[in-house]
Amino acid sequence: MSYVEISNVYKRYEMGETTIVANNDINFSIDKGEFVVILGPSGAGKSTVLNILGGMDSCDEGNILVDGVDIAKFNERKLTTYRRIDVGFVFQFYNLVPNLTAKENVELASQVSPKALDVDAVLEQVGLVNRKSNFPAQLSGGEQQRVAIARALAKNPKLLLCDEPTGALDYETGKQILKLLQDSCRKTGTTVIVITHNSAISPMADRVIRINDAKVRSIEVNENPTPVEKIEW
Ligand SMILES: Nc1ncnc2c1ncn2[C@@H]1O[C@H](COP(=O)(O)OP(=O)(O)OP(=O)(O)O)[C@@H](O)[C@H]1O
Ligand SMILES: [Mg+2]
Repeated sequence: MSYVEISNVYKRYEMGETTIVANNDINFSIDKGEFVVILGPSGAGKSTVLNILGGMDSCDEGNILVDGVDIAKFNERKLTTYRRIDVGFVFQFYNLVPNLTAKENVELASQVSPKALDVDAVLEQVGLVNRKSNFPAQLSGGEQQRVAIARALAKNPKLLLCDEPTGALDYETGKQILKLLQDSCRKTGTTVIVITHNSAISPMADRVIRINDAKVRSIEVNENPTPVEKIEW
């Protein structure tokens, strides 16, 4: 059995007279510790499936096995615990708390997780030790995204889910963030999933899942993923 097994997942949105099918029988598996890239055009259904996997949204049908447990069957209380302890989320626009320092933002997450890592050690891992007393507005976009990654990693999550984490960053900064995510995956054994529009980064993944028009169109496994430093776009 794989670490993550998504099977026959459907998600529909009723919009007045019309039904939007965001996920139309999605199926894929992921092994523990894999670095996975989900690719696909705008509106394909990428965020929908990631939010369902992260317990932020529910599916209409299907099974979402994470470490052998079907989270699609969880009630609200169990889902809250799952989101809090097992899932780290990284978003395009960082979503930091503006009136807390970098370190306090990370502490906020670590405080709610019983298996949290040492906050200073995680800040060091993301290269932010000397900026930890800064507020988000005093940090660059790349630094804010590092705080967001530290906040997610500090929980020591089963899954690190990243929705367009480089979408708001320039080329070089985006590359640094991808390297940080790939390194974190390799060093800590965290299972990392990254959504992107940018197909050029697919060689760095262990597994590439292409979603288009609400369905998985292909799944590719790279036996020898390319280090991000060697990728250009
Ligand atoms: N809350 C919602 N209500 C209605 N429709 C929605 C909702 N969320 C998503 N959709 C629709 O579901 C489809 C899939 O959306 P989703 O956000 O998963 O796409 P995406 O692949 O992440 O796109 P993007 O790359 O632009 O972020 C789209 O047609 C979208 O308009
Ligand atoms: Mg999206």
